[in-house]
Amino acid sequence: MSDKVSRRQFAKIAGLSAAGVASPLEMADAKPAAAARNAGGFPAGFVWGTATSSYQVEGAVNEDGRGASIWDSFTRIPGKIEDGTNGDRANEHYHRYKEDIALIRELGCKAYRFSVAWPRLFPDGDGKPNPKGLDFYNRLIDELLKNGIEPWLTLYHWDLPQSLQDRFGGWRSTETCKIFGDYAACVAEHLTDRVKNVFTLNESGRFVYFGYGIGIDAPGLTLPRAEVNQIRHNSALAHGLAVQAVRAHGRRGTKVGPAENIDACAPAIDTPENVRAAEIALREMNAGYLNVIMEGRYTDAFLKFAGRDAPKYTDAELKIISSPVDFLGLNIYAPQNYVVASDQGPGFMPLPIPKSFPHMNSDWLRIGPETLYWVPKLAAKIWKTDAIYISENGTSGEDQVTPDGKIYDTDRIMYLRNYLAQLQRATEEGVPVRGYFLWSLMDNFEWVFGLGKRFGLYHVNFDTQVRTPKLSASFYRNVIAKNAAGV
Ligand code: BG6
Repeated sequence: MSDKVSRRQFAKIAGLSAAGVASPLEMADAKPAAAARNAGGFPAGFVWGTATSSYQVEGAVNEDGRGASIWDSFTRIPGKIEDGTNGDRANEHYHRYKEDIALIRELGCKAYRFSVAWPRLFPDGDGKPNPKGLDFYNRLIDELLKNGIEPWLTLYHWDLPQSLQDRFGGWRSTETCKIFGDYAACVAEHLTDRVKNVFTLNESGRFVYFGYGIGIDAPGLTLPRAEVNQIRHNSALAHGLAVQAVRAHGRRGTKVGPAENIDACAPAIDTPENVRAAEIALREMNAGYLNVIMEGRYTDAFLKFAGRDAPKYTDAELKIISSPVDFLGLNIYAPQNYVVASDQGPGFMPLPIPKSFPHMNSDWLRIGPETLYWVPKLAAKIWKTDAIYISENGTSGEDQVTPDGKIYDTDRIMYLRNYLAQLQRATEEGVPVRGYFLWSLMDNFEWVFGLGKRFGLYHVNFDTQVRTPKLSASFYRNVIAKNAAGV
């Protein structure tokens, strides 16, 4: 088993424990058609979007009063980033945002998920907001709206102000949670006149375990299990405080919810017993974050498994954590657990994943299109939600530029076609998935992989900053135009 696969699996176990001249776009013969109703397609009004995050694309880390983030520090530690790069420059999106918004419009997307860099607004995490930071997001949002694109804002995509790490140990302290609530209130107050949908934290499951458990993401700590469980609890508390802050300080009607890399469970074989087992598994494998948010309690199995390492909490905290949300954002890339029914323990057994299981250009990114059917379907049932958004899905690819200057990423198209077909199958059955955000708009700084993994619909030459649409951009444009996966 490769290192990267085991990293992602490990995190999940811990979850229970807690160019050319003619642009490829021109190759697509799709003429933007009127969105079909659900006859062989997605429901009318389905939200098609793309996503990025601040540290991965903005660059300009020392400009206009932005403070340092834990990723600025972490990327400076030798050996932490595979190719030794960092987000200092990234996609220069801070300066090129207008050009990038034009790329989103070219796709026909009506929604764009981006994140606010907390240290751009509050260089030290708290205190008075930095007007220049706010100004950037005001300009970004206005430009999106001018282009007919709805801004979907994420409050936290991992770039914690370094000052909060230094002063409080970051998410180890509930001080950081409270300050996050204040930051969320500020964002809500200033931006929800135009931003109608807010995601709280991106992928608590990952940043907590990778950042504080095994040290491969910022801040790079390797803490004992009890502390990691407490930090996960703190992240859920931060989510709840942000939900409350958006309700209290945002415009009426602003919608808010998490964006979580749900531990994706699916029945190994579609039998009623296995489907029931997958349902139980989905709840239990996500007990440390999503389930406590949705149910307001930790499951018995979670507490038993954690034993003495279970998080310490109060009823009042559980109330905050489970503040009602308007939607569930699910980041789904790969199957985590194929399960069968079992009369042992909580009623399911995750099967071992064979070494020969196929994956995409990232070792961890196993190919399991049916996860976009099963996971939203089971999640809607367990948590009785009527609005699910796929807040991220996509794949890395080799993305070679051919001598004609083009990128024929037929592997990405294969991946997307199959995943979207399964998502369509879900919506045709009435599963309440309301939208989909493709990760990512363009190649960007991919955390520990640096610039070495490419997830974009647009290829980025990081020397020249030239963006070139890949063939998959044409594919996605066609999907959006026809509002259907089978294209
Ligand atoms: C998601 C993150 O986990 O996966 C994104 O929300 C990230 O920020 C994407 O870019 C790909 O992950 P990785 O680890 O391959 O860079």
